[in-house]
Amino acid sequence: MTTRRDFLSHSAAAAAALALPRIARAATPQFVEFKARPAAVQLAPPSYPKTEIWGYGGGMPGPELRIAQGARVRRTFLNELPQASSVHWHGIRIDNAMDGVAGLTQAAVEPGASFDYDFVAPDAGTYWYHAHNRSFEQVARGLYGALIVEDAEAPDVDREEVLILDDWLLDPDTAQIDPDFTSRHDRSHAGRRGNFIATNGKYDLALDVRQNERLRLRLINAANARIFVLSLAGMEGWTIALDGMPLDSVEPLDDVLVLGPGQRADLIVDVTADPGETAHLVRIEDREGMSQVAFPVSGTASAARRAPPATLPRNPDVQVPDLESAVSVRLNMQGGAMGTLDAAVLNGERKTFRELVDANEFWAFNGTIGMTETPLADVAIGQAVKLEVYNDTSFPHAMHLHGMHFREIGQDGALGPLRDTLLMFGGETRTIGFVADNPGDWLYHCHMLSHAASGMMTWMRVT
Ligand code: C2O
Ligand code: CU
Repeated sequence: MTTRRDFLSHSAAAAAALALPRIARAATPQFVEFKARPAAVQLAPPSYPKTEIWGYGGGMPGPELRIAQGARVRRTFLNELPQASSVHWHGIRIDNAMDGVAGLTQAAVEPGASFDYDFVAPDAGTYWYHAHNRSFEQVARGLYGALIVEDAEAPDVDREEVLILDDWLLDPDTAQIDPDFTSRHDRSHAGRRGNFIATNGKYDLALDVRQNERLRLRLINAANARIFVLSLAGMEGWTIALDGMPLDSVEPLDDVLVLGPGQRADLIVDVTADPGETAHLVRIEDREGMSQVAFPVSGTASAARRAPPATLPRNPDVQVPDLESAVSVRLNMQGGAMGTLDAAVLNGERKTFRELVDANEFWAFNGTIGMTETPLADVAIGQAVKLEVYNDTSFPHAMHLHGMHFREIGQDGALGPLRDTLLMFGGETRTIGFVADNPGDWLYHCHMLSHAASGMMTWMRVT
C-alpha cells in the first residue's frame, strides 16, 4: 500500500530529479501589507504604565506568519518608524535578494518607504522574522515575530503553542525601554541583557492544559543576548527539531535545553502533572529554577499516556557536505573585555585596543573589526565548506549563518543536527560543515546583537 508519506517523498524525489525550480510548486499570492510602527503595549504588570515599543502591525510580538511548506510569501513592508529598517526571515533558505540584510542584500527602507518581500519557504519548521538594520536597537524595541512553516504531515498533538522568549531592559519605575542601545559595557561584555523576562510579550504567561494532553511547543529565543537554559516540570518532553530542521531521531528532554539568541527548538510535551497542579517550562538561572511559562492543569485529556512521538519527515534537498572535498576556512573570534586582542583593523586602519575602546568597537574576526570589502570565503555553488571557528574570547557567542543550514562536525567526524545558529562558549573551537548551494552574499555573525554591532560580523559569497 502506498501511504501519503510515500507518495509525498516519491513526488519530492521526482521533483528533485527534474530540478524543478522551487518556485514552480507555489501559487502566486497577492502582496499583503505589513507595517512597522511605534506602539504602546502592557508589557510590565498592570500597575505599571504601558511600554512604548516598535512593533510589526503595532503588536509585540508581530503577527504570526503561518504558511504551508513550499508556499510563496509576498509581503509589502511599510516603514512607519522614525528610523530606516529592513526585515530578515531568520533560518529560511531564501533567495538572497529577499534576505533583508540592510547594507548587504538591500538598502535600508527609509521612514515612509516600502519594500516588497517575495520568497518561497522550502522547509517546514519554526522560523522567525526580525529587523535587520540597527538590529541591536530595533530587535530590542520589539521588531520580531514568528514565521511558522507547517509540515505537510503534522505530528499528532492536541495543540500547538508558539513561545517567543525575550528579556527587556526596562526602567524599573516607568517600564520604558532603556534607550542606551550602544552601552560600552554591554558591547564589551555579554551584550544587552534585560531585567524583565517575558514570553510572547507577557510577563506571566499561563496556558491552561489537561493531564495527558500532548502539546507541540515551538520555542524561539528573540533576546538580544540572553541564553535561555530551560527544563520541564510536570511535563515529559522530547526535542523533535532545532532551528526549524527535524532531528534524525527524537531526543528525550530529560536534562536542560540551552537556547542561544536566534535559536529555536520544537518540543513535544505530555502533561504529567495531576489536575489541580501546575506544570512549568522552567528557566534556570544561577542554578535556581523560575517559571518561564506556567501550565495550570485542569481535568484530564485521556486516561492513558501515549507512545513517544515519531520523528518529523526531513526537509527537502538539504545536502550532506562531503568533508573530503570541502574547502577549509578558519575564523578566529577575538576581543571583548578580559580578552587577548591588543590591536585590530578598523575601516582599513590598524588600531590599538585602547583606540578601539574609544571607538566603541570591541570584537574582531581574523584581526578585523566588522564587515570587510572581500568576503571571508568566496566559494563556488555546490562546494562543500568546512569552517573552523575558534572563540578566543571570554564570552559565549551565538554564531548565525544566513541562507543555509550547517552541521557541526564532531571530533570524530560525526555530523551533528542541522542548525542555523551555533552557541559557542569561550575558549572553544568548533567546526561546521555545509554545502554552499544557495547563491548570493550571506552574512555570518554573532546573534548577540551588541556584539554584531561592535565587530562580530562577516560574510561569505557563493557564486
Ligand atoms: Cu536573526 Cu542576521 O539574523
Ligand atoms: Cu557574541
